[in-house]
Amino acid sequence: MKNVTVLDHPVIKHKISILRDKNTGSNEFRSLVTEIAMMLAYEATKDLELEEYDVETPVAKTTGYRLTGKKIGIVPILRAGLGMVDGVLEVLPAAKIGHIGMYRNEETLQPVEYYCKLPSDVENRDILVVDPMLATGGSACDAIDRLKEYGCKSIKLLSIIAAPEAFKLLEEKHPDVKIYISQLDERLNENGYIVPGLGDAGDRLFGTK
Ligand code: PRP
Ligand code: URA
Repeated sequence: MKNVTVLDHPVIKHKISILRDKNTGSNEFRSLVTEIAMMLAYEATKDLELEEYDVETPVAKTTGYRLTGKKIGIVPILRAGLGMVDGVLEVLPAAKIGHIGMYRNEETLQPVEYYCKLPSDVENRDILVVDPMLATGGSACDAIDRLKEYGCKSIKLLSIIAAPEAFKLLEEKHPDVKIYISQLDERLNENGYIVPGLGDAGDRLFGTK
């Protein structure tokens, strides 16, 4: 799919395999999610604009580069998106953070929004929406709808594992949004879980099951 970048990298494959393991505890799970988020942010910011300026090293004058262009906003979809924030902040420490709370109704699999708090200048920022799991894609799709209602025009979506169903929905509803993932899985099961996946990302991050 033209809007999707899959980070095909041996280090990521190694880390995802540990994430998938049902015996991996919350502490290690959180660290791995942070590390993968950092790599996704690195890839997703390859096109940030730079401006040149003069730098003097102890040895000679040279050309330095600093990030310019629009400021960044990170928007985790609660809860599991919170696990990716620190990793993205490692790459973009000056970013502001908005929060969108969503949970999936377990029967209909439809997302239900319960919280939304965004930076006051969100419409002027390049937005990185973060959520480790794209299953039906419904939560990400609704979060992006909300951001567009607030006037956001530049939105990217960073996720660790996605199912093909999510791409179909996102391509239909938000063809302008670039998606960065670290693994495309096979399918959803009858309960809407990604197969093979890693289970419920929120529960595994926060130890709630
Ligand atoms: C999970 C996950 C996504 C959503 C993905 O959240 O973090 O937000 O499901 O599913 P979808 O693509 O079908 O919408 P969940 O609803 O379990 O809430 P939680 O993060 O609070 O556990
Ligand atoms: N949400 C999760 O956390 N995991 C899945 O497999 C699907 C949705």
